Amino acid sequence: MLEATFGVIGGGMMGEALIARLLDQGIFAPGAVVVSDPQATRREVLHHTYGVQTTADNQAVMDAAETVLLAIKPQLLTAVAAGLTPPKTEHPLLLSILAGASLARLGQAFPGWAVVRAMPNTPATVGAGVTALAAGDGVSAEQRSQARTIFASVGTVVEVPEAQMDAVTALSGSGPGYMALVVEALADGGVAVGLPRAIALELAIATVRGTGELLHQGNLHPAVLKDRVTSPGGTTIAGIAALEAGGLRSALMEAVRAAHRRSQELGQS
Ligand SMILES: NC(=O)c1ccc[n+]([C@@H]2O[C@H](COP(=O)([O-])OP(=O)(O)OC[C@H]3O[C@@H](n4cnc5c(N)ncnc54)[C@H](OP(=O)(O)O)[C@@H]3O)[C@@H](O)[C@H]2O)c1
Repeated sequence: MLEATFGVIGGGMMGEALIARLLDQGIFAPGAVVVSDPQATRREVLHHTYGVQTTADNQAVMDAAETVLLAIKPQLLTAVAAGLTPPKTEHPLLLSILAGASLARLGQAFPGWAVVRAMPNTPATVGAGVTALAAGDGVSAEQRSQARTIFASVGTVVEVPEAQMDAVTALSGSGPGYMALVVEALADGGVAVGLPRAIALELAIATVRGTGELLHQGNLHPAVLKDRVTSPGGTTIAGIAALEAGGLRSALMEAVRAAHRRSQELGQS
């Protein structure tokens, strides 16, 4: 039988992002991690890159590790769970990142497991994500703290009641898509006023990234930053007036509301 502290079912993009950073930060040792994935080539890559144990057998992961990250595609949940028997470890913890899979559904699919539902976002793959956690009944304070530590390896962590998970999906889950549009549009604007495309894109990315960092590190309210950078009769207030005329604020608010409605619809289907 395999021995491990931390197991991962589904060694894809998100599974690998977490493994890479958990090892890098010394939260787990490579020998304490076991990953299951159906593809032999994928298992080879994960074993050779990180030194973790790999297997094609999901049950072996469930039997070995007391904390297991479920990182398969959501549509595989029923099929994957159907083939598994209850855990052999004491007080096992399942961390699910499956979009739309409720705590109730996960609890039914994985009897005997304490479950934490997590919603990370794509920047987690570069360690700059934000993950919202919702803990199910029966998750101990220690397991909650472990879940926070695990997801803190790929960025910021917040805890929300499960009822707010659709809202999280609509804001931070879908947000990287909205921000990609903002960056692209800023770069287009730069090109429109004469900058070469590559320079315009670099400036746009650095500006969005740097503004986020300034708000975060300076613990600034966005309105305070906006007021600081708008001098009377200056360029920034001229640009802001154009954004207000174009309805930027309401467009972004409506984007979050539309994504929220869609997340609720998908959860019911
Ligand atoms: N990527 C994101 O930014 C993001 C953000 C939030 C939440 N999530 C959630 O994270 C989960 C994983 O997303 P991802 O982007 O990492 O997907 P992914 O790259 O496709 O990873 C899923 C992995 O699971 C493997 N797999 C397939 N069937 C399996 C089985 N029966 N047992 C064990 N492993 C199996 C897949 O192998 P094959 O390739 O051979 O099928 C693949 O390696 C999804 O549920 C998604 O909703 C992702």
